[in-house]
Amino acid sequence: MNATVTPLTSRPAWQALETHARTMRDVHLRTLFAGDPARGQRLTAKGAGLLLDYSKNRVNDETLRLLARLADESGLRDRIDAMFRGDRINITEDRAVLHVALRAPRDAAIVLDGRNVVPDVHAVLDKMAGFAQRIRGGDWKGHTGQRIRNVINIGIGGSDLGPVMAYEALRHYSERGLTFRFVSNVDGIDLVEATRDLDPAETLFIVSSKTFTTLETMTNAQSARDWLLAGLGGDPRAVARHFVAVSTNDQKVSEFGIDTANMFGFWDWVGGRYSMDSAIGLSTMLAIGPDNFRALLEGFHQMDEHFRTAPFERNLPVLLGLLTVWYTSFFDAHTAAVLPYENYLKRFPAYLQQLTMESNGKSVTLDGGQVAYDTSPIYWGEPGTNGQHSFYQLIHQGTRLIPCDFIAFAHPLTPLGRHHDILLANAFAQSEALAFGKTLEQVQAEGVPAALAPHRVFAGNRPSNTILADRLTPQTLGALVALYEHSVFTQGAIWNINCFDQWGVELGKALAQRILPELEAPDDSALRHDSSTNNLIRWYRRSQQRGGTLP
Ligand code: F6P
Repeated sequence: MNATVTPLTSRPAWQALETHARTMRDVHLRTLFAGDPARGQRLTAKGAGLLLDYSKNRVNDETLRLLARLADESGLRDRIDAMFRGDRINITEDRAVLHVALRAPRDAAIVLDGRNVVPDVHAVLDKMAGFAQRIRGGDWKGHTGQRIRNVINIGIGGSDLGPVMAYEALRHYSERGLTFRFVSNVDGIDLVEATRDLDPAETLFIVSSKTFTTLETMTNAQSARDWLLAGLGGDPRAVARHFVAVSTNDQKVSEFGIDTANMFGFWDWVGGRYSMDSAIGLSTMLAIGPDNFRALLEGFHQMDEHFRTAPFERNLPVLLGLLTVWYTSFFDAHTAAVLPYENYLKRFPAYLQQLTMESNGKSVTLDGGQVAYDTSPIYWGEPGTNGQHSFYQLIHQGTRLIPCDFIAFAHPLTPLGRHHDILLANAFAQSEALAFGKTLEQVQAEGVPAALAPHRVFAGNRPSNTILADRLTPQTLGALVALYEHSVFTQGAIWNINCFDQWGVELGKALAQRILPELEAPDDSALRHDSSTNNLIRWYRRSQQRGGTLP
């Protein structure tokens, strides 16, 4: 399906962009805005309830035209169609990539290997909804007959980051009579702190793992089981009332001791980092209820449809993705900041880190060659205004170019005095300051002493997008996540990489499995690592008073 045979850097649009970028490097946003009084309205696009203002980017009409041409020459349209059609575009794992089917309406048809997968999706959603109603209504009782008041999701990576982010983002809509916690780290303190003040009789664990083999999750699940049984008198029948599983692996779930009747399934065509809207979102549904969860899915679906059908020049994910390519590939930008002016989105940057970097942190093309250009930038961020009093100094006056995405909402979910006006004033002020800065002449005109003046200059010309919506609702969150999912897809299509595998996490996992028994062995005579790793292992063994050679 990779219709593009010409290497990226040899494509005419890429070469034209290289030439064009040399001229754009010296063009200031002040000039671009002065030359087009309507720029601020013109360079905006709408989709799925979101408004993207991309006018404060270092682009002109020619840049946008060339980027759209690059998308054409890179076969983006074909790739989008192939994904929605269920082609096996995850070529290294020979899998379809169909997270869009997770939010398809009940009457849609998406056929994979001769089977319409949409009814399967809705059967799981219905099962989740039934379970959510029983937990939220107090009808599902624990082993001792008490109702469930605490829900702990155990998972890691895509089986944790989406659920945590969605729970935090949609807390306003959540059932406050239930406590939600999330355990991911194999550092035992994560589980210890999450359970220390809870009554096992009222606690439900959701073990979320696509594979049900992930070491961290299985270790935490086993310790959670021990904690539960220790607190409930040791009767193993208690597990059935206090553990449910979300997985693609029935066999491993039942081997763990969870009845597969209490399992919520999904499929290998859902990547871990694209799974928060599958059964992996069970904790989200328990928190916000089935209707709100369906509204979340509707938001995803609206953005899917926008991405699939809108012309590239008005297509939000395509624009966002192409602008990322522009700065990464032609301005040598290494990072991208995501700055939500909405405290409920405090875990959104962390969520995006897996989505973006596990997807596009690749250096091999689809046909197995080495890339000759940079791929994913490093995504990072914090909510505004907190970040302003921390790292914004570097974004404003440091030596690096850091494209920023500001995210803000017209209405707060709980109005409080002037807080929201102040919050939004800050959001808009930051993108204005970044774009236009403050010249030496302006600084001098303010009477700043000459010796201080250079320190007070803001060069400006620092690009940003602003993403706006009416308010943070389940629907808006779905649209926002899908916006970034498809932006990542757009970037991957241009860079000609597979966004959907993650082989880069395997080596460390395998080596940890080798080192673990070496840490615990009676002596260290069999160590065969490099001298540094051997030394580290011996240091640890010594600290544990285990036998062997002293380092
Ligand atoms: O870190 C690698 C990874 O495979 C992620 O892609 C995935 O989200 C995470 O581990 C958890 O995997 P699982 O859901 O199978 O436990």
